[in-house]
Amino acid sequence: YSSKHVEILGTEYPVDEVTNVTPSILSKIPLRLHTKPSHPLSTLRGLIEEHFAGFSHVSSFSPVVSPFKNFDELSFPKDHPGRAATDSYYVNKDMMLRTHTSAHEVEMFRKGEMKWLLTADVYRRDEIDGSHYPVFHQVEGARIFDASPEGLKEVRESNEFLEAQLAKSNILIEDVPHVSPTNPVQEGHDPVLSELVAKNLKLSLNGMILKLFGGGAEKGEPLRVRWIEAYFPFTSPSFEVEVFYQGKWLEILGSGVVIRHTLDTAGVQNKIGWAFGLGLERIAMVLFGIPDIRLFWSQDERFHSQFQQGKITTFKPYSKFPACYKDVSFWLPNNTSLHENDFCDLVRDTAGDLVEDVKKVDHFVHPKTNRTSLCYRINYRSMDRSLSNEEVNEIQGQVVSELKNRFGVEIR
Ligand code: PHE
Repeated sequence: YSSKHVEILGTEYPVDEVTNVTPSILSKIPLRLHTKPSHPLSTLRGLIEEHFAGFSHVSSFSPVVSPFKNFDELSFPKDHPGRAATDSYYVNKDMMLRTHTSAHEVEMFRKGEMKWLLTADVYRRDEIDGSHYPVFHQVEGARIFDASPEGLKEVRESNEFLEAQLAKSNILIEDVPHVSPTNPVQEGHDPVLSELVAKNLKLSLNGMILKLFGGGAEKGEPLRVRWIEAYFPFTSPSFEVEVFYQGKWLEILGSGVVIRHTLDTAGVQNKIGWAFGLGLERIAMVLFGIPDIRLFWSQDERFHSQFQQGKITTFKPYSKFPACYKDVSFWLPNNTSLHENDFCDLVRDTAGDLVEDVKKVDHFVHPKTNRTSLCYRINYRSMDRSLSNEEVNEIQGQVVSELKNRFGVEIR
C-alpha cells in the first residue's frame, strides 16, 4: 500500500499487515447498485419490499464492520473458514467488509423493529467467472413475534391468511419438516410456537417466490419450490430454498428461526422470530436473462437503457465481443503457496472488468526439486467493445510483472 490509510465512504482507516482490500474493490463501494433507479438489482429489491407489506426498509449501513459483528456476535465458531483472509476482505486487523447482511441483525433487532428488511452490498473473495463477483447484494428480512399466547395467536392468524393466499396459486412445494432431530427446536423455545414460526417463514417466502418467479412458469405447469434442511450458526431450525426455473434448480436463500442469543444480545426479550438472507444477483440474472454478472456493473447505455424501475424485462444482449485467452505459467518460490483468490484479486486489480474468467489449467510439483508450477488461463473480454491483441498483451504483461513483484514467481 502506497499510503498508510485507505479511505472508505469518507472515513480513513489505517492499513496494517492484515489489509487485503484492493483498489478495484474499494472503487465499487460507493456505487450502491441496489439504490440506483431502474437498475435490475434495484427493481428486484423493490419487488421484494412490495411483497413484505408493513416491513420497514433500510439500506444505509456502511459495509465496514468488525469481524466481531460479522461473525462472533452471530455465534460463528472461532475457526470458521469464512474468517480467513483468503475468503474475506479485511480493511485492517480490526475491520472488514461484511460478508453477509446478517452482520446487521443484532443492530436491527436492537431498534425494536418486529418486521424489517435490509438491503446491502456484501463482499467475498472468490474465483472469477460469469456468475461470481467479489461484490454482490443481499436482502435480509426478519419478523418476530411475542413468545406469549397473544404471539401464538398472531402467528396462527398470519399462517391461515398466507395459506389461503397460496392455496389459490399454481405452486408445487417440496417441503421438509419444520423441525426434526437434525434440525431442532432451540432449547428454551416452546416447540409448538417454534414450529408455527418456521411455518410462517416458509409461507411468507413461498409467497415472495411466487411473486418473483410465478410469471415465468410454463403455461399450466406449477412453479416448483423445494425446502431443504440447512445449517447456520445463527438460526435453528434452518433451511435453504431452491426454485426450479428454466430447467434448473436455483438456490436462492438461507433462512431459519433466529437463535435466542442474537435476540438476547439485541436486548429483545420474550420474542421468537425468523430471518432470511437472499442474494439478488443470481435471481436477477435468471429473471432478466442477464448472462454475465459483470453486466450489473457496466456503465454502458446499451445495458441501462433496457431497464425501467419496477419492471422485469428480458435483456437483449448486444453482440458478444470476441474473447482473448492468455496463459501464464510460473514456478512458485520454494516453500510458498499461492491461493487462487490471491491470484484472482491480482488479475482483477490489473485488468478490472475486462477479465471474464480465470481457470487453473495446470498444477504440478517437480519430483526432484519439489517446486510447484502453476498455469492459469485468463479469458479477457470486454462487455462493451472489441479488445485489440496489443491491448490485451499489455494487460497480460502487467499481470505477469505484478505476479513477479508480489509473489516472487519465476515465469516459465
Ligand atoms: N447470511 C446467510 C448467508 O449469507 C443467509 C441467512 C440469513 C441464513 C438469515 C439464515 C438467516 O449465507
